[in-house]
Amino acid sequence: MKIGVLTGGGDCPGLNAVIRAVIRKADKFGYRVIGLNNGWKGLLDLSYEDLHPAMASGILHVGGTILGTSRTNPYKREGGVETVVKNASRLELGAIVAIGGEDTLGVAKKLCDEGLNIVGVPKTIDNDLSGTDYTFGFDTAVTIATEAIDRLHSTAESHNRIMVVEVMGRNTGWIATYAGLAGGADAILIPEKPFDLDEVCELLMKRHMRGKKFSIIVVAEGAKIAAKAGDEASLVTQETRVDEFGHVRLGGIAQVIATEIEKKTGFETRFVVLGHIQRGGSPTPHDRVLATRFGIFATEMVKKGEFGKMAALSGDRIIAVALEEAVNRTKTVNMEIFRIAEEFFG
Ligand code: F6P
Repeated sequence: MKIGVLTGGGDCPGLNAVIRAVIRKADKFGYRVIGLNNGWKGLLDLSYEDLHPAMASGILHVGGTILGTSRTNPYKREGGVETVVKNASRLELGAIVAIGGEDTLGVAKKLCDEGLNIVGVPKTIDNDLSGTDYTFGFDTAVTIATEAIDRLHSTAESHNRIMVVEVMGRNTGWIATYAGLAGGADAILIPEKPFDLDEVCELLMKRHMRGKKFSIIVVAEGAKIAAKAGDEASLVTQETRVDEFGHVRLGGIAQVIATEIEKKTGFETRFVVLGHIQRGGSPTPHDRVLATRFGIFATEMVKKGEFGKMAALSGDRIIAVALEEAVNRTKTVNMEIFRIAEEFFG
């Protein structure tokens, strides 16, 4: 059998670890593996390469993806779905392993309904995919953000400043909650709980009245300021254009609230946007292990013919769940964990 592998959506530490595991396990099963370049675009443009076993060497610890990635959506291209289905058959693909988040796996789910044999692997630093306890890439992003918060502590303290740190996460606050909790943030602002800036300022004033001379606020890029009666809580975006999956580019909320906090409290305030640093570079050992387990399991799913499903983490076990379960809703922050972080606010 020939298996096609692709990586779609934003890149994420651990993608190469999955690819390596698929190549190695497929070789044991006697399957040939083809890498489809740049996500679903590779199947649209027939851009691919043979992934012979030697290509699995030296990539476990490497960030990014050797296959390239894109946010191409065949359902947004004229004749895209027909082309993808035709090219999969031209390449004689017995199965496709699609490594991605809700967008890439949403396409995978629909293409399964068109008759393609697809197995999903859950990837995203945002950890917002349902059906799995965690996605790989999340631990690395949290580790990077926590290290940044640790570093910001010492400079904030030296200058008696408030530091506002913006982290990624799209419409969820997983990275903000975990990195904020791990980094001892004095406030964490997440999309799941729109915030009132006056209340945040009050909390900061009280903290400083207790003698604290600095504060760290972690804000998720998708956090929203609570709406006044009759208004809707709004997102801060970098531009209004949307990608092929309908997403706007988020970012900029840290600057907005840092300016307001300085005005309202009189404390000198700075902001930092961590951005793509959270996605770049080598995966943590935790993510390497998780990504490898997903890759091996996904290849076993191919052998068993478990298509239309995704490898997922449930407790300590890897299991197969329906793609539908993964993509039908966004997994929001576990509020029990957020409430633990809240214990340390102010
Ligand atoms: O989904 C992963 C993610 O890193 C989000 O956290 C972020 O909003 C988005 O991708 C950024 O995407 P881009 O690569 O288009 O800048």
